[in-house]
This record gives sequence, structure tokens and C-alpha cells, in this order.
Amino acid sequence: MSQAGGIIHVSRYKNDSLLVKENFNKNRKPTGVTAMLKLAGYDAADRNWVMAAYKPDGTMVSFGKIGSCIACHTMVQKQDFVFAPPPQQLLSIRTWKAFFPKQEMNPAYVSLLKEHPEAVVK
Ligand code: HEC
Repeated sequence: MSQAGGIIHVSRYKNDSLLVKENFNKNRKPTGVTAMLKLAGYDAADRNWVMAAYKPDGTMVSFGKIGSCIACHTMVQKQDFVFAPPPQQLLSIRTWKAFFPKQEMNPAYVSLLKEHPEAVVK
């Protein structure tokens, strides 16, 4: 493991790995939680990630093979569909804002974009 802008570098995830992200707007108000779980045999074409999205109160918004999530996460297929840890492949702020106009990008991720402009996926 090595450190990249404070985000731990891991190249591939094991079965049963669970990644959870809390999302906030620019006023630091929670906008929801997104999660991905790696489940053996679930969806081999998309690296077996089960996607899930929840409102801040815990209500489920969507779950499973969610096309919109996969469409974006597939852009970093060399990183096993996981944006953190970069910096092999990074998503531009512009693309992020086009999808999530009301949600801020993680400041640690924005720093990585500045440090590694060459890694931005086109
Ligand atoms: C427009 C592209 C885009 C879409 C659509 C998208 N994500 Fe992400 N996702 C990102 C980026 C970029 C990051 C890393 C930046 C950050 O952490 O804020 C990320 C981070 C994550 C993480 C933390 C692990 C990681 O990859 O770094 C989870 C979990 C996650 N997203 C789940 C989801 C789920 C579930 C959905 C669908 C409801 C979704 N995402 C839709 C771009 C996207």
C-alpha cells in the first residue's frame, strides 16, 4: 500500500469488500449515502459490484445493477471500478458537476485532480 493524496492506494478489491461514501452539498449538509459491495458471481461484466444509494434518513433510493452508477464507475475499470484510490484514472470535476450539480466533490479528490491532470479520463 502507498499513500496518494491521503487516499490509500489499493489496486484490487476482494469479494465482500464494502465501500461506503457519505455525500454532502457545499453547505456540508448530507445529501445521501452511496455504497458498493463486491459479491462473488453477482455481475461479472461489471466486476461483481452491487450498487446502492440511500437518502440521509436511510431510506433506500436504488439498489442492485444501477445503470447510472455503473456507467460512470466503469470509466475507471483499470481501478476495479473504484475511483478512490487514484491516481491511475481520475474523473474530471466538469463531468462530476454535470451529473451531480448539487453535490460537492470530495476535497481530497479535487487535490488529486490538481496533482495528476494527466490521469483524467476522457
Ligand atoms: C458522474 C460519475 C459518477 C456516478 C454517476 C456515480 N459515481 Fe460514485 N463516485 C464517482 C467519483 C468521481 C467518486 C470519487 C470521488 C468522491 O469520493 O467524491 C465516486 C465514489 C464512489 C464511492 C466510493 C468508492 C470509490 O469509487 O471511490 C462509492 C461507494 C460510490 N461512488 C457509489 C456510487 C453509487 C452507488 C452510484 C449510483 C447511485 C454512483 N456512485 C454514481 C463518480 C460517480
